[in-house]
Amino acid sequence: MTRVNAKDIDFNNLGFDYMDLPYRYIARYRNGQWEKGELSDDSDLHVSEGSTALHYGQSAFEGLKAYRTPEGKVQLFRPDQNAKRLIASCNRLLMPEFPEEDFIEAAKEVVKANLDFVPPHESGGTLYLRPIMMGVGGQLGVHPAKEYIFTIFASPVGDYFKGGMTPTSFVTSDYDRAAHQGTGKSKVGGNYAASLLPGEQAKKDGYSDVVYLDPLTHQNIEEVGAANFFGITKDNEFKTPLSPSILPSITKYSLLWLAEHRLGLKVSECDIPVDDLDQFKEAGACGTAAVISPIGSLTHHDKKHVFYSETEVGPLTTQLFDTLKGIQFGTVEAPEGWIVPV
Ligand code: PLP
Ligand code: COI
Repeated sequence: MTRVNAKDIDFNNLGFDYMDLPYRYIARYRNGQWEKGELSDDSDLHVSEGSTALHYGQSAFEGLKAYRTPEGKVQLFRPDQNAKRLIASCNRLLMPEFPEEDFIEAAKEVVKANLDFVPPHESGGTLYLRPIMMGVGGQLGVHPAKEYIFTIFASPVGDYFKGGMTPTSFVTSDYDRAAHQGTGKSKVGGNYAASLLPGEQAKKDGYSDVVYLDPLTHQNIEEVGAANFFGITKDNEFKTPLSPSILPSITKYSLLWLAEHRLGLKVSECDIPVDDLDQFKEAGACGTAAVISPIGSLTHHDKKHVFYSETEVGPLTTQLFDTLKGIQFGTVEAPEGWIVPV
């Protein structure tokens, strides 16, 4: 991989792609404890071929962003929530917990070390941080590794779904991403491996991504690829699926709060039958990478349902987007504890 120079980056036209930045954080767990982590200029990981992450998928990750304010300061959005969710994923895969305070410090260190790569405020881009926990060390049997690596690398990013705040079309899948008592609510690598085939098929058919249905009945909406689903009903209720197999999205919980307390909407987490989409006047996908991406249409068994419009964004989706982005980029007052300066 070629190391990038900040001067060569067109921050106004970023996609969602990996860039090899100067620094990442890396800590190793050996002999039952974490050794002191440090910044490294080596973007290649050197691990045993017997690592459990490689054959048994003992790995989990996170995604969070650093934002530049109009004054040029840099801040993180709710990194404590990512630290807590990684701990939950680690508990599910029997990996050691990386302490919350150390997680936040490490994230700040990576941003500070790569400060030139935090896109300018006006570009709308962000510095995406990708923390990863993985089981390493030579091993053959199916049991938890004795050694682990925790690392955070960074990459400047723009829109995840094409066009960002432009409605795009999605399609349901007959494949399941995760089982109810499986690992769907954990952010583990295997869930994403399972999503590659249905995701690529949907893209080949001209859709942005797949909408998964609940694995028990295939009647309720679960997730939108690597994002959560929300819909706003004709009587102004913000609804989002409640299921044990979807990722507890930090963006979704932030939107639930903002919809209720800033926009005055009713809110609920509940079943969302794929045969009852007429209840919604607007719908979208939400996540750290996706931010808010309006869903123009959803095709289920060859029947296409258009929400607000296939070309225009609904007013409540726009209001939610402006509020969330304003908080993240430092132009709208944040609820207490949501913003962590770097
Ligand atoms: N659902 C899946 C499967 C994801 O990968 C993500 C991304 O993290 C989300 C939802 C959104 O979660 P968050 O808002 O915490 O980024
Ligand atoms: C994120 O939104 O941070 C994610 O992790 C989604 C990703 C897999 C692109």
